[in-house]
Amino acid sequence: MLGVCYYPEHWPESWWADDARRMRDLGLRTVRIGEFAWSRIEPEPGRIEIDWLRRAVDTLGAAGLEVVLSTPTATPPKWLMDAHPEIAPVDEDGTVRGFGSRRHYTFSSSVFASEAARIAEVVARSLGRHPAVVGWQIDNEYGCHNTALSYGDTDLRAYREWLRRRYQSTEQMNEAWGNAFWSMELRHFNEAALPVRAVTETNPAARLDYWRFSSDQIVAFNRMQADIIRAHSPGRFVTHNFMGLFLDFDHFACGADLDLATWDSYPIGFTERFPFSEEERNAYAMTGHPDMAPFHHDLYRAVGRGRWWVMEQQAGPVNWAPWNPVPRPGQIRLFTWEAIAHGAERVMYFRWRQAPFGQEQMHSGLNLPDNSGLSPGGSEAAEVARELDAIGPLPAPTLAPVALVIDYEASWITRIQPQGATFNYGELAYRWYEAARRLGLDIDIVPPGHDLSAYRLVLAPSLPYVSEVALNAFKKTTAEIVFGPRSGSKTRHFSIPENLPPGPLAELIPFRVVEVASLRPGLTEEVKGRISGQVRRWREHIACEKEFAEAAFADGMPAMIRSGRFSYLAGWAEIDLISAVLVAAAERARVATTSLPASLRLRRRGNLKFAFNYGSEPVELTFPPDAAVLGSSTVPPSGVTIWRED
Ligand code: GAL
Repeated sequence: MLGVCYYPEHWPESWWADDARRMRDLGLRTVRIGEFAWSRIEPEPGRIEIDWLRRAVDTLGAAGLEVVLSTPTATPPKWLMDAHPEIAPVDEDGTVRGFGSRRHYTFSSSVFASEAARIAEVVARSLGRHPAVVGWQIDNEYGCHNTALSYGDTDLRAYREWLRRRYQSTEQMNEAWGNAFWSMELRHFNEAALPVRAVTETNPAARLDYWRFSSDQIVAFNRMQADIIRAHSPGRFVTHNFMGLFLDFDHFACGADLDLATWDSYPIGFTERFPFSEEERNAYAMTGHPDMAPFHHDLYRAVGRGRWWVMEQQAGPVNWAPWNPVPRPGQIRLFTWEAIAHGAERVMYFRWRQAPFGQEQMHSGLNLPDNSGLSPGGSEAAEVARELDAIGPLPAPTLAPVALVIDYEASWITRIQPQGATFNYGELAYRWYEAARRLGLDIDIVPPGHDLSAYRLVLAPSLPYVSEVALNAFKKTTAEIVFGPRSGSKTRHFSIPENLPPGPLAELIPFRVVEVASLRPGLTEEVKGRISGQVRRWREHIACEKEFAEAAFADGMPAMIRSGRFSYLAGWAEIDLISAVLVAAAERARVATTSLPASLRLRRRGNLKFAFNYGSEPVELTFPPDAAVLGSSTVPPSGVTIWRED
């Protein structure tokens, strides 16, 4: 179940065989290579040098390793950029983001698309049927370094084409966008402008469409490469390595063209970047926040429709966060087991050996940069490999009782018009997830419109645009459903629904949102009633019949309303309030909850139950002594316990 990311082009060829042998000895089975190697595969236009890569695959294969090959399109070489400067992406201010690092292309460049197709075909044709090759990674981390959206002339041309296809006539587009406002009406599609660099805020419907367009461009680029690989490499899977904390394009749409999803897990770095309190950040500096990796495991399991890997697992300190601590001893092992508990098919460490040169020389790997031996993370990987061997085959992952709806457009809509500086969709969804996990619940993340009939409890932290498909999925299940603030507050074309928010959801719970208030930092609203707690950042003023109000704000207006199995929470709830809402909903749904210590998490995989301790004190569990599979009922800091529950 374990593997590693390797860069043969970084090391003398005379080291490869020894590296491969040591990978096997360590207990690794799979190796990903090639994702940044374009300048070595094609040093000059049209001069293909693929033999070195073939020898690398041969060497790894001869040692009994499976190879995941990548297309090198994240790093177009200098000669290509010089020949076609329009490939480079452009930022919101109009600055061209040129050669010198990576991801220096826009998805809308047709020149780049055909160059990418060409190089993908070269690699797939040459090595696609090699017996050691089991699968493909397309490109590397779409959107990384803020590259999902680009704002140059190339993008504008493609955007106008996209608009033409979507709206057919400018009348329809003017109508959809509400262009009567501020004299924005357009006569031709060629008058459509980039929704940036205007005097002030541009039309939100246009901005939402620009986001959808940009997302579609990524999906199309990915599909184009997937088709090429499948034509030349039959029987191998096709995947992409997605990122953490990243909502800039529709990953579900992209995942639909892949055989499985993978993601790059750097929980300690992400914890530095997420808007946690300083207190939380310090508490989890060396471990990462307890839900950081799990949230993404559950998300990418959904993106891969059940099949997923960790393609890059943090194996020690990273180099890119504001602060980069050494993980606490045991933590790399914990991360590995936690991914497996959530159903990962493989966990691939990043990277085999720390590179003593280049941008990432301060980024650790499984081996020290002088090749004198394993890093501490490398020793922990070896430990997991031994444990996996001893335990033998694991049961298949099972569905969770709880589904959490994640919507990429929700993130775009609330970033386009936040209405309150601290309304951050990603943060809101994460906090709901955290609250549920602190109650010991296993969670499946699902896209809106996903069939919900297998779930008992469904959480939608915020779903501003509720499509007909999404509405039907809510209606069809018998699950208890909790909606969060701003759900149903926008139409598909970014306007307020005719019947006021919650728009189509009023069919499920009869109420209307009359006004909304964003709350400055420091302002708190108390909520009291069947459940109680605090709201910050955001609250809504709701009109509804008294019988539906479960809890109210201090001024008497409803804070939580419920009609049968549908509830709506009219504010940004703090974790205790979310928790109270979830406990009540879980009880109605007959899903058992337990209140866990803040830094302990549980997860079931088949009949195995896993416990992970992110805290600095040991935690005591209770289970029959002969049920232990790994560890014991005392879980030490950064420890893992697995036991059987029959
Ligand atoms: C990932 C990326 C890798 C490497 C790594 C460092 O985002 O895919 O190439 O840069 O981060 O943590």
